[in-house]
Amino acid sequence: MNKSINRRTWFKSSALMAGALVMGQKVYAEYTPDLISTTFTPMEKSPWDFTNMKARLTSNENPFGPSPKAQQAMCEAIKDSWMYPKLSSDQLRKMIANQWEVPEDHVMLGAGSTELLMAAAQHFGQKGHQILSADLTYMSLIRRACEDYGATLVTVPLTPQYDYDFDRMLEAVKADINLIYLCNPNNPTGVKAKTSQIKAFCEAASAKKPVFVDEAYLDYQEKPETETMIGLVKQGKNVMVARTFSKVHAMAGMRIGYCIAHPDNIKALKKYGTDGNGMSRPGVVGAIATLEDPEFMQYSRKMNKESKEMLYSILSDNGYEYIPSDTNFVLFPIRMEGDRFVMEMMKRGVGLKRIFYRDQHYCRVSIGTKKDMELFADAFQQIS
Ligand SMILES: Cc1ncc(COP(=O)(O)O)c(C=O)c1O
Repeated sequence: MNKSINRRTWFKSSALMAGALVMGQKVYAEYTPDLISTTFTPMEKSPWDFTNMKARLTSNENPFGPSPKAQQAMCEAIKDSWMYPKLSSDQLRKMIANQWEVPEDHVMLGAGSTELLMAAAQHFGQKGHQILSADLTYMSLIRRACEDYGATLVTVPLTPQYDYDFDRMLEAVKADINLIYLCNPNNPTGVKAKTSQIKAFCEAASAKKPVFVDEAYLDYQEKPETETMIGLVKQGKNVMVARTFSKVHAMAGMRIGYCIAHPDNIKALKKYGTDGNGMSRPGVVGAIATLEDPEFMQYSRKMNKESKEMLYSILSDNGYEYIPSDTNFVLFPIRMEGDRFVMEMMKRGVGLKRIFYRDQHYCRVSIGTKKDMELFADAFQQIS
C-alpha cells in the first residue's frame, strides 16, 4: 500500500499539529542559534566517523554517474592537468550562456554552487542585513551569513503541507530585508513549488529586494527549462539563480556550479568568488562533456526514480509515511529520537541525516542504487 503523505490531509492527524500552533503564534522568527539547532544540530558522531559506511545516503550525491562521456573526457584531461582551467572554463561559460540564451556576462562559475552561495552570503549578509527565507530550508547560505557575517534571519514557516507560504513571505519583504533566499525544490523536504506561484512571488519580491533561487535539484524535473527562474533574469528582474553539476550530472566530487544573474549582481558576487579558477581543469572538461550528453540526464533521472519508488515501497511496507519528493532524497517522520535512529543505522553501514522540526523527528535519506536501498531496508527493518 502506498503510504505517501497526502500533503493536504495528513497534517490533521500528524504530530505536526504542534507546528501549526507555532504558525498561528508567529509569522516570522528572528534568527537565533536555537532556531537552527532545532533543525540541524551537530551529532555526537558524524557519519564520516564511521569507517563501515556501505550505503552513502547522507549528502544527496548521485551514484548513477558521471556520464560515461564525461568520465572519458576527464580521464583524457588528466594528462593536461598542468594547465589552469582558463580556456576550458571560458568554453564552459559559453556553453552555459548558450544553453540558457543569456549573454556571457550573466554567468559566474564556481567550485560547486556552494561557492556562489557563499559569495551571496558575503555580499548580501553582513551585519545589519536581514535575510528572508523559509523555515524549513537549506541552511548553507543562511548559516554563513548569520553565523559568520552577523546578518539576521527572518523566516516564514512552510505551510503544513511543506509548501512555501508565498503570501506571507511577500508580506515579510520589508525595508530591512537585504536578500530573499529560496531553494526550489526545497532541501530537506524535497518539495517543489508550483512554477506559476514561485514565479509570481519572485516577480513581486524582486521588484523590492534581490531574490536568490537555489535550483540545485531542479534538473530532476523532466523539463527544467520550463520551471527555472532564469527567465526572470532575462527579463531584467533582480533575481539570481544558482545551479550545479553535483546532482543530476553526478559530479559532486568535481565541484562545478554556476550562477545566472544580471551583470550588476554577477559583478558584486565576483568580488567574493573565483569565477571558475577554483574548479579543476578535468572537472571543467567533464562538465562540458556531460552537457553534451542529454541521454545521460535521462538515464540519471530514470535510475533515481526507480530507486526512489523502491524506497517508497520499503517505507510503506514498514508502515511509514513519507513526503513525496521531487529530488534525489526523501524526508520522512521517524518514531524514535533522531540521533539514536541515525546512529543505529550508521552502525549497520547506512549513512543518513536527521532533522528535528516542529516537534517531530525526521530522517532524510538520499536516493542510492538499488543495492543501497536494500542495505537501507535491511537496517531499517532491524531497528524500526
Ligand atoms: C539545496 C542545495 N544547494 C546547494 C548545494 C551545494 O551543492 P554543490 O556545492 O555541490 O553545487 C546543495 C548540496 O547538497 C544543496 O542541497
